[in-house]
Amino acid sequence: MVAAQVIGVGSYAPERRLDNAELSRTVETSDAWIRERTGIGERRIAAPDEAASDLATAAAKRALAVAGLQPNDIDMVMVATVTGDRPLPATAAIVQRKLGITNRCGAFDLAAACAGFVYGLGLGNALIGQGQCRHVLVIGVEVLSRFVNWEDRTTCVLFGDGAGAVVLGPGAAEAPAGIDGVHLHCQGSMSHLLTIPAGGSEKPASGASLAEREHYVRMEGQDVFRVAVKELASACLSAIDALQMTTSDVDWVVAHQANERILEAVAQRSGIPFERFFRNIARYGNTSSASIPLALDEAYRSGSLEPGSKLVLCALGAGIAWGSCVLRWQLPKPTPQPTRQRGESPSESVA
Ligand code: ACO
Repeated sequence: MVAAQVIGVGSYAPERRLDNAELSRTVETSDAWIRERTGIGERRIAAPDEAASDLATAAAKRALAVAGLQPNDIDMVMVATVTGDRPLPATAAIVQRKLGITNRCGAFDLAAACAGFVYGLGLGNALIGQGQCRHVLVIGVEVLSRFVNWEDRTTCVLFGDGAGAVVLGPGAAEAPAGIDGVHLHCQGSMSHLLTIPAGGSEKPASGASLAEREHYVRMEGQDVFRVAVKELASACLSAIDALQMTTSDVDWVVAHQANERILEAVAQRSGIPFERFFRNIARYGNTSSASIPLALDEAYRSGSLEPGSKLVLCALGAGIAWGSCVLRWQLPKPTPQPTRQRGESPSESVA
């Protein structure tokens, strides 16, 4: 089976920055508390007229440009998100339209919360490997700012908005595999740890549920923290072991950016040096499905990734769902990009 490779990558972060100082004027918190407990300094907030499909489309256009492809070269659009435009239709269908794809390729959303992008890579890899698709667009996007309770300091300080995208294409037969060692897991018995209780078919977002603010994110933070450290470390090692690699073969870990302390603990537990964990959480907070492709794009545009670099990707989130894989980077270093007009490519600096 031919393994898929990343042949294009792009991201988009809304223009508006909400830093900890501004947030501490509306909820009882402080820059010091947020930085010390999470590593977050600021997050991006989508403009009122920006929906998930807008962020996703902007990121996808940049990924297509890197790939040197036209929209109609795409055979499948996958959007990993839990904050799509509407319950119906899939945000992927809207993104297909906004990108100008008219070839009637498949388009669907994928809901595995923070693990969604890694699930998407696994699926895209399988579709390409089986010859069903040649070019798969995998997008991770979230507009979490519309789903957090801005009066709840235990959650609102954590999340941000953003999007990232990759174009997957078939790897050359003689080259080492691109995506490999994919592991996808979920433990539904822990699904109560991180949830938006209302707004689905179980409990509509109306009346009492609105008054109780049940249409916003609820989280058992410490329990999520514990399971994240344990399973992310083990998922990294599973992906590495599957390819008969050792931790010293890993050039970068591009992990879901949920909390810097989680990353530190994963590094310690897995034995992979913390310096090899790519980090941008300080500037974006937790962008759930978007966090890995956003970090990948930033790593790429900052010149941190070389052809042949071995990356471990891993993510965990609501479900509790998690996943990991190894990605052998193939793209050459980028040529300098023109200045952005609206919004911004998150490429200006690296944490
Ligand atoms: N500002 C100031 N004080 C706060 C804040 C805040 N924003 N939030 C909570 N506190 C207070 C609490 O009320 C508590 O006060 P008390 O001691 O008087 O009761 C105190 O700080 C300590 O609270 P803890 O919940 O024990 O703080 P903790 O060190 O566990 O940090 C946090 C909380 C940051 C949420 C942590 O548990 C965490 O990161 N968990 C992982 C959750 C996560 O990342 N979720 C994202 C989705 S899942 C994923 O992406 C992996």
